[in-house]
Amino acid sequence: MVSGARGPDSTGSRTAVFAGFQEFGVTYDTASTPSLTGLTLELHSDKLTLITGPSGSGKSTLVRVLAGFIPRLLHGKIEGSAEVLGNDVESAPPNSITDSIGMVFDNPFDQLTAATKTAFDETAYALENEGLHPAEIVDRVMGALESVGLADLAGHHPRRLSGGQSQRLAIACALAQQKPILVLDDPTSQLDPTGTAEVVSMVGKLRREHTTVVLVAQDLTHWLAIADRLVILDGGRVTADGSPASLLAEPGLLADQVMIPRYVAIWAELRSRGIELGDRAPLGTDQLLASLQASDGAGG
Ligand SMILES: Nc1ncnc2c1ncn2[C@@H]1O[C@H](COP(=O)(O)OP(=O)(O)O)[C@@H](O)[C@H]1O
Ligand SMILES: [Mg+2]
Repeated sequence: MVSGARGPDSTGSRTAVFAGFQEFGVTYDTASTPSLTGLTLELHSDKLTLITGPSGSGKSTLVRVLAGFIPRLLHGKIEGSAEVLGNDVESAPPNSITDSIGMVFDNPFDQLTAATKTAFDETAYALENEGLHPAEIVDRVMGALESVGLADLAGHHPRRLSGGQSQRLAIACALAQQKPILVLDDPTSQLDPTGTAEVVSMVGKLRREHTTVVLVAQDLTHWLAIADRLVILDGGRVTADGSPASLLAEPGLLADQVMIPRYVAIWAELRSRGIELGDRAPLGTDQLLASLQASDGAGG
């Protein structure tokens, strides 16, 4: 059984494993080739795991399995094994995974119900189904809308929201459910810089409050500083896995697989020109500046 098992993660600390994939593969019923194949991975509680890789590498498929949607709701042929919270994903009882793992889809329009008339109602929808006390519902809904910057739009019709606002509403719906594990599939793909900053700050806060987060992002720029671990997928399997600072410092490894943030690219370029900047990639512009200042000091 995977849940409760303990093992070292990439940062060396020991935390509970909540999901394990062994030589795992998925071929969607509508596809002729596998979307994941020979994938082996363990995911740890109380961590922020960042998953990246090129378009079509299987990121969304992996997190749909993790959140209990494949193969129960989205059908496909499974190979190998995947266990989430102690359940084999193929035989897991209904809700055994979804009760504990909240998921934000890459496309908010796949997620929003189209059955509600306000952003408030949309966010309250799942909570009402759970039969929570009205005061608790109002607290959770307003807290969630606030943390994604939508509190002012609580009374707006979901259909009148922009793409970015819809994405933030989908995140608020998941947040309001307060599940211990949150899976976010490219949550800022439709957001402008202000919306992105709000979502990054919200995820950072969840992380500090010990929510387990699995986050898919093609653009790593804003996430490296708060990620505990970086997993790279290519061709439906894991091709690299480790701490962001050490993984991004490996020359050549990533060129075709990852959109490298500018501050990492500048660091790598300066290093290749012989400037001593250490062997850990910066995780933000501020860290790049700090290592440049340190190297300036060291050079006298
Ligand atoms: N619902 C689906 N039905 C059939 N094929 C799919 C479906 N979703 C994704 N795929 C295919 O699976 C492969 C991996 O896709 P996906 O998991 O969406 O990758 P990523 O999120 O990294 O872009 C791609 O070839 C894609 O076309
Ligand atoms: Mg995707």
